[in-house]
Amino acid sequence: MANSKYLFLQIACFILLLSLSPSYAHNKSHESTPPPAGFQENVDFKGCFNKVYAFGDSDTDTGNAHNLGDLKSFISTLFSHAWSPYCSSENSKLSGYRLSNGRLVIDFLCEALNIPHLSAYKDSSANFSSGANFAIAGSTALSSNLFGHFNFGNPLMWKPNPENILTQIDWFHNFVGERECQGKDEAACKSELRNALFWIGEIGGNDYARATGQGCKVPCGSRATTNRVPSIAISNMSLK
Ligand SMILES: *[C@@H]1O[C@H](CO)[C@@H](O)[C@H](O)[C@H]1NC(C)=O
Ligand SMILES: *[C@@H]1O[C@H](CO)[C@@H](O)[C@H](O)[C@H]1NC(C)=O
Ligand SMILES: *[C@@H]1O[C@H](CO)[C@@H](O)[C@H](O)[C@H]1NC(C)=O
Repeated sequence: MANSKYLFLQIACFILLLSLSPSYAHNKSHESTPPPAGFQENVDFKGCFNKVYAFGDSDTDTGNAHNLGDLKSFISTLFSHAWSPYCSSENSKLSGYRLSNGRLVIDFLCEALNIPHLSAYKDSSANFSSGANFAIAGSTALSSNLFGHFNFGNPLMWKPNPENILTQIDWFHNFVGERECQGKDEAACKSELRNALFWIGEIGGNDYARATGQGCKVPCGSRATTNRVPSIAISNMSLK
């Protein structure tokens, strides 16, 4: 099966990357470089924002992919007894589901802002008083249909057709309409969102990961599209 060859190649590359540990980065004698002008150490961001709305992929997702269903079976098949990203001593005090055995950058961000860790939008029992997390593990910047059209069956990916960033924008619009601005006039609605921080996590890595090992099936224009789609989508998040 051709896919198992690619799987082997990808795992080999991954192990190679891990073994190329950047020892340079751990060499304390490089750290004497002075910080750039204007750099402030220990800035206190507590109280600057009262809510966070987060977008992205597995680097940011705190449970949406899990709550959508497929990820759970994918992960348990792949890692079954060897490693579970959902249970660790640290995770026992984190609610939701992360593809990590500890906190994500978004968790550290919330701690720095002194607000509770963000719940996934698809967690029906969540308390969204401090914002919501719309990120979906495995999601792409390019449209889902494109991956279906070119039949990208990357063996490390959990769905033939990924969710893409526009799903997250749709969720956000629904969330604002049905919850944040429900029954409010425009001024009250804007005031509800005035102190919110929009966190746009990493997105686009899955587009490249899906294309790995597929040969050059992606049309040449796609690279430009990858850069363009998120900026269009993000500009569309503004309230209309
Ligand atoms: C750390 O960096 C210094 C200065 O560049 C160098 O002289 C030294 O050999 C490095 N040590 C290691 C362990 O790489
Ligand atoms: C939701 O969380 C906020 C802030 O932590 C808290 O004040 C509020 O009581 C919570 N609401 C419910 C219904 O638990
Ligand atoms: C963004 O909004 C504009 C104007 O409302 C619309 O024409 C465009 O199709 C939207 N783009 C996306 C990616 O939703």
